[in-house]
Amino acid sequence: MSDARAITELAKRRGFFFGSNEAYGGVAGFYTFGPEGAALKRNVEAAWRDRFTVREGNDEIEAPTIMPEPVFEASGHLDGFDDMLVECGECGESHRADHLVEDASDVEEAESLPIPEVEELVAEYEIACPSCGAALAGRSIEEFNLMFATTIGPGSGQQGYLRPETAQGIFVEFPRLKEYARNKLPFGVTQIGRAYRNEISPRKGIVRTREFTQAELEQFVDPDDDDPPLDRVADVSLRLYPADQQEDPDGEYVEATVAEAVEEGIVASEWVAYYLGVAREWYDRIGVDGDRFRFRQHLPGERAHYAADCWDAESEVSGVASADPTAGDWIEIAGFAYRGDYDLSKHAAHGDDDFTVFEQYDEPRTVERAVADPDMSVLGPEFGGRAGDVADALRALAERDPSAFEGETVTVEVDGEAVTVDTDVANFRIEERTEAGEHVTPHVVEPSFGVDRTVYTLIAHGYGHDLIDGEERTYLSLSPEVAPTDVAVFPLVSDAALEEVADDIVADLRAAGLSVAHDDSGNIGRRYRRQDEVGTPLSVTVDHESVEETPTTVTVRDRDTTAQVRVPVDELAAELEGVLES
Ligand code: GAP
Repeated sequence: MSDARAITELAKRRGFFFGSNEAYGGVAGFYTFGPEGAALKRNVEAAWRDRFTVREGNDEIEAPTIMPEPVFEASGHLDGFDDMLVECGECGESHRADHLVEDASDVEEAESLPIPEVEELVAEYEIACPSCGAALAGRSIEEFNLMFATTIGPGSGQQGYLRPETAQGIFVEFPRLKEYARNKLPFGVTQIGRAYRNEISPRKGIVRTREFTQAELEQFVDPDDDDPPLDRVADVSLRLYPADQQEDPDGEYVEATVAEAVEEGIVASEWVAYYLGVAREWYDRIGVDGDRFRFRQHLPGERAHYAADCWDAESEVSGVASADPTAGDWIEIAGFAYRGDYDLSKHAAHGDDDFTVFEQYDEPRTVERAVADPDMSVLGPEFGGRAGDVADALRALAERDPSAFEGETVTVEVDGEAVTVDTDVANFRIEERTEAGEHVTPHVVEPSFGVDRTVYTLIAHGYGHDLIDGEERTYLSLSPEVAPTDVAVFPLVSDAALEEVADDIVADLRAAGLSVAHDDSGNIGRRYRRQDEVGTPLSVTVDHESVEETPTTVTVRDRDTTAQVRVPVDELAAELEGVLES
């Protein structure tokens, strides 16, 4: 069985995750996390919160998952958040054309190609419908918007969408968040929550779903003034796969520390490099295998509409650890994008609020400013109801581009229409002013993590087999910080005296804050195997010796080595906590 199938089988059998609504036939792209998976996911989220919110000194918010249409008009998702859809003429099934091309050829990142080129590749590789086998050549490929639409309120209501990324919930609230941050850059805001994408062909279990969890950090910085605390991660080693190496058929990984990646210009933004370092440490901490992990730079055509530069964290999930970047099965688990001022500028232009930060100077400064003070007596009758908007547009243009007023007329855009005004009427001049500070539109650096894909990676990297006493076992070597259960407690056999001691131990360990599984049914070997398969780091067994001797002792078994040690019960909680924290 392939690793992917074995993991899906284990996930379902042991309650990590499984397809939702199966009693009603199921719906592709929706998964339920069972008890083990929900605990593992919760622990990943807690570890992320600890590293990216608490230790970075950032603030976390929780915004609604449904947002009104104008938000997505501004963000560009309404127009640009599309995938390539090809519909089979024979069976009517829809497929993602770029994925079909990638599966059938050596072409990588086909989504960055123009549609006609993808149509040609479908014909060239004689690609068939995966559902019914009919030829897809000659079918036209369409852009399909990935957002789920909904109606807010009864009747015709207001058009809304389920958010396709948690980020927009942070950007639209920027006017309040900057006040909370007292207008002081840099500051970061995080959010962990659901995102929704109507994926054309969900695949690989929880790797590509229609509802998933993101953990996102929006770092707001003054691009001219703010530097990241690079020295904190300067020595962290990164395995980088830059765009130029991907374009070279013999391309290789570049191994560099964070400091070297910045000095040698491999990663252009210091803030992005900083977060690659922080992320690398965090992935180590939660148990991602460094030999099956890399940071891959987006190719120019691959970048999202908002990103000036982007690096993905990728994990290998089929068991291949190789120095050859083309070997293995890689999935994107996080993206690190330099979004510039794209989002805040768009919301400033479309929304009705101030998306800048007012940065106070140390001392008031006398500066020259271009001012337009339009003659409203002329603008009024001539421009009717739009006079105020024309005047506002002239004033904004004067601040932005004084040279626009050098001719006899000046043109501004109002409601998408060009309006031309005499320079005299615009009343443009340069004035000296004393100013206390300036308005800055912050730039955004965004580490964006997929929680479900992180969970999948931890299972894939923790998954292993070995032989114990001649018997094959399957185990999940999860790090204690994220393992669903800290410790399992077993009475060796069904016996009232042993069960009583086990019950007391369970109560004491739970009171000490550990998550404890209590299993008293079946053969002890099978109970160990069960805990090994769900990644429980330690098991405690109460045996006859435990009740016959004073002080009462129990055995503690390590999941990975299966070695056992005897520990007095009154030292048990401290002993277990010590091992789990080490
Ligand atoms: N705000 C930036 C953003 O949303 P993205 O690369 O589209 O960027 C970020 O998504 C992360 O979310 C990805 O790296 C991936 O881990 C996760 N993700 C995206 N689409 C997903 C899907 N359909 N199913 C599961 N996880 C997904």
